[in-house]
Amino acid sequence: MYTFVPWVLSALSIATSVVASPLAVPVANSTSPVIDVVTGITSALFDDFILYTKYCSASYRENCARPVGRALFNEPGHITGFIARDDGRLEIVVTFRGTHSVDDALTVGQLALTPFISRGINETFSVHTGFLNSYNGVADDVIRIVKEQLVAHPGYRIIVTGHSLGGGVAAIAAPSLRVALGDAVPLKLYTFGQPRTGDPSYATYMEDLLGEQNIHRSVHTTDGIPGFIFPSLGYAHFATEYWQYSDPIPFLLARERTIKKCVGGEDPACSAKLTTFALSSVHWTYYGQEISSDPTVCL
Ligand SMILES: *[C@@H]1O[C@H](CO)[C@@H](O)[C@H](O)[C@H]1NC(C)=O
Ligand SMILES: *[C@@H]1O[C@H](CO)[C@@H](O)[C@H](O)[C@H]1NC(C)=O
Repeated sequence: MYTFVPWVLSALSIATSVVASPLAVPVANSTSPVIDVVTGITSALFDDFILYTKYCSASYRENCARPVGRALFNEPGHITGFIARDDGRLEIVVTFRGTHSVDDALTVGQLALTPFISRGINETFSVHTGFLNSYNGVADDVIRIVKEQLVAHPGYRIIVTGHSLGGGVAAIAAPSLRVALGDAVPLKLYTFGQPRTGDPSYATYMEDLLGEQNIHRSVHTTDGIPGFIFPSLGYAHFATEYWQYSDPIPFLLARERTIKKCVGGEDPACSAKLTTFALSSVHWTYYGQEISSDPTVCL
């Protein structure tokens, strides 16, 4: 069902083998939405969050048992990811890996704001230098591969996803792909534990360009990473945040009701109210899955 398209990116790239085999993954059951009218989300959306978390987890793993054809970037400042096609869900998924190496950590450290200039984008407002450079290093390949896939598979939708630093890169890639592909191609962004990525004008631009309904920025309980690049540095989050304010509690708190769909980029009733910004285990667990370290959290 899944076809993985490895990025061929540079002389230093190491392309892993591409294997295709049918996979058993959760599929959203859109016929049975379970909506908590107070704070919850639908069961189908929760299943989507589980699925895209798996993509993010797979992006960290050197050997997923399941196919995970991808190229490795070894150059400082560059980033690894992969593109996959799901012929069951009719979607092309672009996944960016998060912090994994010292090089990546240095990228996170590139906190200066830089005007958002990328493939098809030349704006005066600013984004995180490290995330921008990471995406710009692969932008031509990502856009070319996605366009080729869309020619062969018209009507598919585009998913852009990433965890942690990879979420920041995904938040740069999504508008670039939106511009490159045109409005007719459905495109959705799913990030998990994403740091603030740009200034307030960038946040507004994201909401207007992609549509708040197409943006899903998940924050798990007290994950400090989404908050650690402070607004005082000139940064702001965009909507829509989905704050999992609690883990599910058997018989008391159903999974769908652990999610609060927030309002605006910096909803004071959501993760913006957190006051500690440490890297902790909750950053590595999204939707009940241990990202990166659990070998079963693979595609
Ligand atoms: C989807 O939900 C319907 C209604 O609750 C149920 O009958 C069906 O078995 C579900 N399908 C899957 C694949 O879970
Ligand atoms: C971006 O736009 C400015 C102002 O129009 C122009 O001077 C500059 O050359 C453009 N940069 C790129 C990379 O297109």
